[in-house]
Amino acid sequence: MSQPRSDAVVIFGVTGDLAYKKIFPALQAMHGRGHLDVPVIGVARAEWTVDQLRARARDSIMANGRGVVGGGGDALTNLLARLEYVRGDYADPATYAALRKALGGAERPANYLAVPPSMFATVVEGLGQSGCAHNARVIIEKPFGRDLASARALNQTLHAVFEESAIFRIDHYLGKEPVQNLLLFRFANTFLEPIWNRNYVESVQITMAESFGVEGRGRFYEEAGAIRDVIQNHLMQVVGFLAMEAPLTTYAEALRDEQVKVFRAIRPLSPEDLVRGQFRGYRQEAGVAPDSTVETFAAVRLHVDSWRWDGVPFFIRAGKCMPVSTTEVLVTLKRAPLRRVGPEETNHLRFRLSPDVIIAIGARIKKSGDNMVTEPTELKVVHQPDGDEMDAYERLLGDAMDGDGTLFARQDGVEAAWAIVQPILGGVTPVHEYAPGTWGPPDAARLTADVGGWRAPV
Ligand code: BG6
Repeated sequence: MSQPRSDAVVIFGVTGDLAYKKIFPALQAMHGRGHLDVPVIGVARAEWTVDQLRARARDSIMANGRGVVGGGGDALTNLLARLEYVRGDYADPATYAALRKALGGAERPANYLAVPPSMFATVVEGLGQSGCAHNARVIIEKPFGRDLASARALNQTLHAVFEESAIFRIDHYLGKEPVQNLLLFRFANTFLEPIWNRNYVESVQITMAESFGVEGRGRFYEEAGAIRDVIQNHLMQVVGFLAMEAPLTTYAEALRDEQVKVFRAIRPLSPEDLVRGQFRGYRQEAGVAPDSTVETFAAVRLHVDSWRWDGVPFFIRAGKCMPVSTTEVLVTLKRAPLRRVGPEETNHLRFRLSPDVIIAIGARIKKSGDNMVTEPTELKVVHQPDGDEMDAYERLLGDAMDGDGTLFARQDGVEAAWAIVQPILGGVTPVHEYAPGTWGPPDAARLTADVGGWRAPV
């Protein structure tokens, strides 16, 4: 795609957490590779000087940056010299006038809204009214609304000023190397296609386990819960990549079109397909209501009503305070019709998405000895990141600056994913307490009972 590259980066909310943890390190990595040669302007309300901003960026890069990619001390100094600061209230037209001035000759800025969602509309309107939105792009982070209606409203707000092609909604899962690998593995290997359907696949399980709790984000989490935080977005994108048809290679929107087709084929969830849990101790976290019913664990059974997947359950479970931190996909194949093969003796494909990257084919082989019995084994590829790989934020920021929206959530996809979870939002089922360090409430077992239960990641 040959879109003109953005010629400035503007970060609203530059003094906040997202900039500190993700955006500065991504800028450093881009700069280290020679991919960042434009001014970077931070905007925020704090009474900071540009030197304070540069010190903050330096701290962020020291704490979260990637030394090798970032180059040496000179590179850091050069990067910091690109930073400018505009102080102002997001509702004040003077802020945008000052921004316009700071942009100098730049005509196509990429505006990163690292501000709370409640400020999106104010900033977008400010950009529109000041002329700063002309030829510009806008990058926003989830949550893209908190249900279908608010997602639609947010899209209207954005579209009042920006064309869809200028809007980049970051779901950082789409920028992750192992998530993209799912797609490549599926479509670059002919051996997979004949079995990748309802005739051979028995079930698909996606587990996103995090061994930690809400880490001081209690207030945020109270507004989200596991369904809104990771299922509606990150894990639904993974389902999309697993279940989609091969995208055409002849036009740019094909990947997102196929992704949206999968979301539309998934039946809106009903309460029977959901189990919610809350780890013991969550209610004592700062910012959490003492009687909170927000879920820190959710498990769902999805029905993908497509020709390929009819009758094959797709399960998702995601939780905090689990026994391990790992994200894994397990595709279980139907049992071979051998008399000696028991129901648990199936084949599978296993994709570990984090913390390391594994693709494994689970097979049965003969157990050595006199008897004709099998034992399980895995043919496995393990990829150890070498420290020089692009992290999701670096990749996505670069793509947004290039105007390439392939790895970003599109309006129709966001709305279709909300439509799937809409019936299970708002505490429609009880929340069960679970002990930290366990796999969530025992009730979750009923969802997978007919396919042999949940399989713990290896
Ligand atoms: C974020 C969620 O979007 O994704 C967090 O808000 C979650 O709750 C995180 O921990 C997981 O992403 P990653 O890349 O750290 O696995």
